[in-house]
Parts: sequence; structure tokens; C-alpha cells
Amino acid sequence: MKLLLLLSFLTAASCVSIFEITGDRFISPLRGQRVSNVTGIVTAKGPDGFWLRSVTPDRDASTSESIYVFGRTAATPRTVGEQIVLSTATVTEFRTSADYLYLTELTNPGNVTVISSGNDVSPIVIGARGLNPPTEQYSSLDNGDVFGLPNNVSQISVVNPVLEPQRYGLDFWESLTGELVSVPGARAVARPNRFGDTWVVGDWRTTGENERGGLTMTDQDANPEAILIGTPLDGSRNPSTTVLGDSFEDITGIVTQAFGFYRILPLTSLVVISSPQPALPPPTELTYSGNCGGLTIGSYNVENLSPTSPNLNQIASDIVNYLRSPPLIFIQEIQDDNGPTNDAIVSANLTLSTLSRAITAINPSASYAFTNIDPTDDTNGGQPGGNIRTAYLFDPRVLRLRSANPGTATSANEVLPGPTLRFNPGLIDPLNPAWVDSRKPLVAEWEILNSTGSFFTVNVHFASKGGSSSLHGDARPPVNGGVDIRLAQANITANFIASILAQNSNAPVIASGDFNEFAFVAPLESFVEISGLRDADVLAGLSPEERYTYLFDMNTQQLDHTYVSRGVRNVELEHVHINTWGANGASDHDPTVLKVGVCAR
Ligand SMILES: *[C@@H]1O[C@H](CO)[C@@H](O)[C@H](O)[C@H]1NC(C)=O
Ligand SMILES: *[C@@H]1O[C@H](CO)[C@@H](O)[C@H](O)[C@H]1NC(C)=O
Ligand SMILES: *[C@@H]1O[C@H](CO)[C@@H](O)[C@H](O)[C@H]1NC(C)=O
Ligand SMILES: *[C@@H]1O[C@H](CO)[C@@H](O)[C@H](O)[C@H]1NC(C)=O
Ligand SMILES: *[C@@H]1O[C@H](CO)[C@@H](O)[C@H](O)[C@H]1NC(C)=O
Ligand SMILES: *[C@@H]1O[C@H](CO)[C@@H](O)[C@H](O)[C@H]1NC(C)=O
Repeated sequence: MKLLLLLSFLTAASCVSIFEITGDRFISPLRGQRVSNVTGIVTAKGPDGFWLRSVTPDRDASTSESIYVFGRTAATPRTVGEQIVLSTATVTEFRTSADYLYLTELTNPGNVTVISSGNDVSPIVIGARGLNPPTEQYSSLDNGDVFGLPNNVSQISVVNPVLEPQRYGLDFWESLTGELVSVPGARAVARPNRFGDTWVVGDWRTTGENERGGLTMTDQDANPEAILIGTPLDGSRNPSTTVLGDSFEDITGIVTQAFGFYRILPLTSLVVISSPQPALPPPTELTYSGNCGGLTIGSYNVENLSPTSPNLNQIASDIVNYLRSPPLIFIQEIQDDNGPTNDAIVSANLTLSTLSRAITAINPSASYAFTNIDPTDDTNGGQPGGNIRTAYLFDPRVLRLRSANPGTATSANEVLPGPTLRFNPGLIDPLNPAWVDSRKPLVAEWEILNSTGSFFTVNVHFASKGGSSSLHGDARPPVNGGVDIRLAQANITANFIASILAQNSNAPVIASGDFNEFAFVAPLESFVEISGLRDADVLAGLSPEERYTYLFDMNTQQLDHTYVSRGVRNVELEHVHINTWGANGASDHDPTVLKVGVCAR
């Protein structure tokens, strides 16, 4: 065996079939070699090359029978349906970033001899009447959990595992690389990126499907059955305004790997057949009952809101028209009074009062006061100069801070006998290194006017997932950027909450905001374990598929969560999908409305 390998390095491989080039792993066994007399039928053409399908296929589902021939040479302006012999070419593994997977292709093509023309080039059907992609696992190297820790313990390009296309999504798409395929019954599971690339599924079996037609990430399942539709091969452009759940005419195109994702390059642009109706969700059904037995609370990441943000009026309108002006709102990503201008200003009074006025302008019966703590300049991460922070909007006719006594950027809140708070509101352990360049949770204790007792709130915005590698990337399990920081932040926040509940396990505590993590990943599992809080989505009875507030790549997913203590009763919750469903949302996150009983017991 070793001798054979050595020999094949010394002599150019001759007269190979395409399956011998593509091989049954990710990386070609003939990588770097010059091959001769590659025979096949031209199935499609692109601006820089063409695709060739074997006339001598094998019976192994792991090996692709087609390959891309790259190069703007005399060999490449071909006619679809021709059977040709390519005299020579080099087997090349190509990628544009070390974080991506390779595409196996033929480069430096030699001469072409045309043998015949007008041959059949039927696409391989992917779907109910053809091949079905795996729906749960991406790669054998993920060890059963694409969200598992530690991350990046191995790389596909190094291990180069044997493909198992029936079990693993990446193996499935790799085994079809270069093939002409069709996708009947396609629908969008995302919005297009700026190039018009859109994630879809066909009429094949899926998991995680939500009522809108998107695919929601669930425990250990990040939906490898979705595929990206890339730039059309005929030079046309995909529509840029499609939305989640749109249906398309059947798609025919070439499977390839480029810019970090398996994708299908359609022969021509996507054509929308229909869009889901209504275009936007109805307003929340949850409204304040007028007493402590049915308080409504909103939570909304308002995406870098400053007094001059173009989205400010739309955010205000969302709060009135979709959240129905709840008496308390947890807000994340409030910027300082001059937004991203990078100077010493840290106050957000103008931002918050402008938002409050904009709400009242739309709904004259709404009235919001606000509270927040200015950070030390440039210590909260996010857009440079913006000094984003979390804040509360509250209706002073309904709620007041219990014995208001705001903390500062550097004062650590404490739980005093009662339980009550040393600072109201105050930050949790703001000088802990876990919060470097990140938002510190804002804790408050509230009283409902004319009611006895109080309840506690914790408004969080944990560190972002920046630095993550993609689900289709080389690193396995994929890098979950910032996960160690979020784990530390989750523990600190949870320990603070646990110290409230240690004094009174019936104290109502509500933690909500942008946790930048999924419920089934280590930081939030630890948060629940230490705090003793329960997931409000679960208590409210939302099915796992309907738990989403964000759209990223092929997944609807939940970054924004609400957790409550046992003293919080009658939990109802709605994620209002104005931004995941729409094309022109005010924010990248959906807001949430919670309705709870927080009466003293
Ligand atoms: C390639 O095909 C040509 C024409 O049939 C033949 O002359 C040549 O020997 C073949 N080359 C190899 C390396 O098999
Ligand atoms: C292509 O064909 C020409 C003319 O027959 C020949 O001179 C040349 O060597 C061939 N090139 C390759 C790369 O086979
Ligand atoms: C994964 O680990 C490899 C080996 O240490 C490293 O080269 C690569 O950059 C890492 N990938 C990511 C996305 O961090
Ligand atoms: C912001 O508003 C608060 C409460 O109204 C006030 O105490 C504080 O001085 C204001 N800060 C600035 C910088 O105006
Ligand atoms: C609280 O009581 C006062 C006086 O009885 C009344 O005017 C006010 O409307 C009440 N507020 C609420 C929120 O019920
Ligand atoms: C967080 O707490 C968990 C226990 O739930 C523990 O296993 C883990 O080591 C802690 N991590 C950090 C960074 O504090």
C-alpha cells in the first residue's frame, strides 16, 4: 500500500474516472496530481469553467461523479451536453480561508476532444422523490453535538474522514459536489444576504420546522438539511427581497463549496411563487391586567439605538403596535446620547427620552420613565463609541423602583437582608474580568403601585458570538465565539440571583434579555443550574420550534430568553416575530412579551 502511494506520487495518474478524483473523503486522494484523459459530459457552464459528469460512474454513494473544471482557457468555452475527453488537468483543493472546507476541482485544463453532443444532462433530484439530506448531524467529528464543548478539537481538512452521506449533512453535500441537481418544492428558510444568496430546503424531510416554514435550531440539531442558493450561473441575480417562508419554483443547479458553505449555483435566478401571509405577525395578545396578577413585560434588543437612529420611530411603533405598550420593558443596545461618536459622552438620557417621547407620540396614553447606569467610557464593547448598555423603560403610573438608589458604573450590587438590593438599580460585579468589553447586567427591584411586595429583574446582554466559525466550517465542533466568556458571565449572574433566592425562594425574579446563546448550550445550562430559574418559554408551553428571536444563516434561533423564579406565577410568553418574518425590520432581534403574576405571597 505504501509503495503504491509512493508510485502514484511519482507518476502522473492516467486515464482516471471522476469518482477516483473526487474520492470517498473530503480531500481528493489525487490532490496535486496531474491526471490525463478525463472523460465526461458537460452538465453546466459558469463564467470561469464548466462541470463534467462521468460516463463511468461507480456504485459508491460517497463519491461524486461530477467535477468542476476551472480555468479561462481554450478548453473552457463548452456546450452543455457534449461528451469530451480532457487531455490533462491538475487535481486541486481550493479554499479562500483556512476556516473553510476545500472544493476539489480540476485546474490548468489541457486540450478537449469532443466525442459526441446532445447527451442527456438530467439533474439528480434531491427531495421526496430522490436523495434526502440528513436532518440532524453535520459531521462525525462533532461527536453527536454540534454545540458541544470544547470546540475545534479536530478539523475536517486534517482528519479527512470517510464520507457517510446518509448520516452527516456535510458528507451528504460533499458527496454531491460538482453534480447538477434539482430541488423541487423549495422554500426560503432565511432572508437573502447582500449577494442574494438564500438558504432553502426542498420537499425533503426536515426537523425543527416552525409554523412560518423556517427551521429552528433545537438541542443537538442545527439543521444540516438546509442548503444555500448562490449566484446564478447565467449572470442573472437572485431577488434581494425574499423573506422567510417564501416558496420558489423548482431550482436546478450545481452543488459546490465556496466562501465557507456548500451551496447550489442555480442555472438561473430564483423565482418566487408565493409568500406566507400575513406578511407580519399580529400584535401580542398579552396585555396588562391592571394589577400584580397580570403584569406585562417587554424585552427588546433595539440594535444600537441612538437619538438619531433611523430605526427609532419604528422601534417606538413596534413597542406600541406589537408589544402593546407593556408597563415594563427590558431594553438592550441603548447607545449614548451621540451614538457612535467616540467621545467622552456616556449618558443615554437623550436616547431614552427620545424613545420615550416617540412612543407617546404614537400612543398618547403611553408614558415611560427610564432607568439605566452610565458605563465607564468605552468599557461595554459593541459599536465603538456607542457605549451600549441595557436599560428599563417603565410606566411610572404602574411601577416604581423600590427605594431608588442607583449604583454607578463601578459599584457592585449586593443582596441585603429582605431580600432587597444595596443599589436599585445596580450592576452585578461590574469590575469582574468576565465583563471586560461587555455589558454588565442591570438588576432592579420594583413595586407595583397600590400592591404590596416587590419583584426583582435582571436585564442581561451577554458577550456576542463574534469569532464563531460557521456550521459548514473546517473546525469541529464549530467554534462558538465567546462561549467561555458567556459561561463566566452566566455563572456570575446566576450566583447573584441565587443569593436573592437563598433568602426567600418565593421572591419573584425575572431575568431577561439578549443572552447571545442557545438554551441547550453550556452557558445557559449552567445559568439554570446555578440560579434555579426556569425557562419561561418552557413554562409558557411554546414548542421548541417556535422558540426563536433571530435568523442566522439557515436557522431561526433563540438568543433572547426569559428565566423566572418559582415566585413568578402564571407565565405566558410570546416572541413577536416582526423582524425574523419581515424584510425591513427595525432590529435584527424579535422582541418578546411576557405576562406574569408577581403578587406578594
Ligand atoms: C489519452 O487518450 C489518447 C487518445 O485516445 C491516447 O492516445 C493516450 O495514450 C491517452 N493517454 C493516457 C495517459 O492514457
Ligand atoms: C494540445 O494540443 C496541441 C495540438 O495538438 C498540442 O500541441 C499540445 O501539446 C496539447 N496540449 C496539452 C496540454 O495536451
Ligand atoms: C482550529 O484549530 C486549528 C488547529 O489549532 C487552527 O489552526 C484553526 O485556526 C482553528 N480554527 C478556528 C476557526 O479557530
Ligand atoms: C440623566 O437623568 C437622570 C435622571 O433623570 C439624572 O439624574 C442625570 O443627571 C441625567 N444625566 C445627565 C448626564 O443628564
Ligand atoms: C393607586 O391608587 C391611587 C389612589 O387610590 C389611584 O389614584 C391610582 O389610580 C392607583 N394606581 C393604580 C396603578 O392602580
Ligand atoms: C460555571 O458553573 C459551572 C457549574 O454550573 C461550572 O461547571 C463551571 O466550571 C463554571 N464556569 C465558570 C467559568 O465559572
